[in-house]
Amino acid sequence: MSILRRKSVEDVLAQGDSDEHGAAGAASGQLARRLTVWDLIGFGIGIVIGTGIFTLTGLQAKNNAGPAIVVSFVVAGVVSLLAALCYAELASAVPAAGSSYTYAYTTIGEIFAWIIAWDLILEFALGAAVVARGWSGYLLGVFPFLPTALFGEHSVINLGAVLIVAVLGAVAIKGIKESAWVTNTLVVIKVSVCIFVIVVGLFFVQKANLVPFVPPSKPLPASEQLGGLTAPMWQFLTGAAPTSYGMVGVFIAAAVVFFAYSGFEAVANLGEETKNPKRDMPLGLLGTLGICTLLYVGVCFVLTGMVKYTDLSEGDAVAQVFRDVGLGWAGVLIGLAAIAGLTSVILVDIVTMGRIGFALARDGLLPPAFRKVHPTWNTPVLMTSLTIGVVMVLAAFVPLGTLAEMVSIGTLFAFLVVSIAVPVLRVTRPEMQRPFRTPFSPVVPVLSGLCCIGLMANLATETWLRFLIWLAIGLVIYFGYSRRHARLADPVAFDQRFRDEAAIPRD
Ligand code: ALA
Repeated sequence: MSILRRKSVEDVLAQGDSDEHGAAGAASGQLARRLTVWDLIGFGIGIVIGTGIFTLTGLQAKNNAGPAIVVSFVVAGVVSLLAALCYAELASAVPAAGSSYTYAYTTIGEIFAWIIAWDLILEFALGAAVVARGWSGYLLGVFPFLPTALFGEHSVINLGAVLIVAVLGAVAIKGIKESAWVTNTLVVIKVSVCIFVIVVGLFFVQKANLVPFVPPSKPLPASEQLGGLTAPMWQFLTGAAPTSYGMVGVFIAAAVVFFAYSGFEAVANLGEETKNPKRDMPLGLLGTLGICTLLYVGVCFVLTGMVKYTDLSEGDAVAQVFRDVGLGWAGVLIGLAAIAGLTSVILVDIVTMGRIGFALARDGLLPPAFRKVHPTWNTPVLMTSLTIGVVMVLAAFVPLGTLAEMVSIGTLFAFLVVSIAVPVLRVTRPEMQRPFRTPFSPVVPVLSGLCCIGLMANLATETWLRFLIWLAIGLVIYFGYSRRHARLADPVAFDQRFRDEAAIPRD
């Protein structure tokens, strides 16, 4: 069946199919095995920490979980770890650096690869919009004289988010990349902020704020129900009355803050460059997710301990709690650090989107225009410009929580596909080399798949509807265009048609 056709590993290597996922930032071809566990952990933490902890914590503690937001973060961390263990097997089995799209294309087939790529587009485009809105919220916190109609979560048009996307979009099109020292400095800043918040904040924690730890469940007001569409999918299906808080709220929050862990898959992408993937990959993943979970749980505990959850800011909670206890200077420092840290995440997301478009067009799944690179800037201009346009509109009008839920559902769905692929491929392709094997398969992949479904079921019905529409659009494009135009449909003719095109330069 043509929809299940697969790219050969040789093809992938020949194309230098390396870094659609961007963050992995690897070179093409055979890579030197030089990374240690600590390299993996440093890289992972730098990518994972972002708006999730800086903004979603306040939002979800206030609206769904209360102080039990710490439990939500632990649940999301465990699900991430299970998924990561599956992802790492697939990543290490394809002897080239790259993204889940490439792994799927060489192992489970084209249609799954397309669906995963379509999910990646959701993850990075909407991820950029989420972070841009988070950025705007922190800007407003540091410069409170800015008009609230144009900055922060209560804006009518979030001009702050639009402006930062426009500026970073121009930077991405010009092909200016952050230098390694800027990236490393930002990693240090983000981790330091979390540690500072935990250590200093602990002195201001008041027990009264942490009680009740799980706020009692209460029915959603009719005005917020939208015919049950705002309730989690499982409540909608079972006809249960929509509620917030309670244990249901803790799991709703877990599904949304899964966003805070997204990006860890980039660590799994480095299997090919790791000295001893069998030992270092699980340790690197465990280390990254373990440290992030600890930092996240610590920050959540302090935040909800310093200020009553009902009074948390929806825009810049991590800075706000320090202002509220009279440490205005700390609030400003944290705000500035968050603004710097989030800026780099937006840039990475936009650059990555350009690469995803390029990779899809190189395989013929998107029209040739998407693989055109600018003659002097060497960047995929069309995909990047389209991305910037869409992200600006979304960031201007769509609330941060809504966008984050979409990223969570897309990422969870991609991990569900990966979790199913691991045991299936063990049976159908036993000969495949697997430098890293998911431990206790099929128990871990099955658990991972079930957990992904479980978290997805806790996302709002309206999020499911939006996601299904997104998938349907993707399938229409696939069956309407991609399947017929794919390079694999006629590789010789395809290569001839494009042989004169310049390839995108590598980093
Ligand atoms: N995990 C990243 C964040 O929280 C996407 O911003």
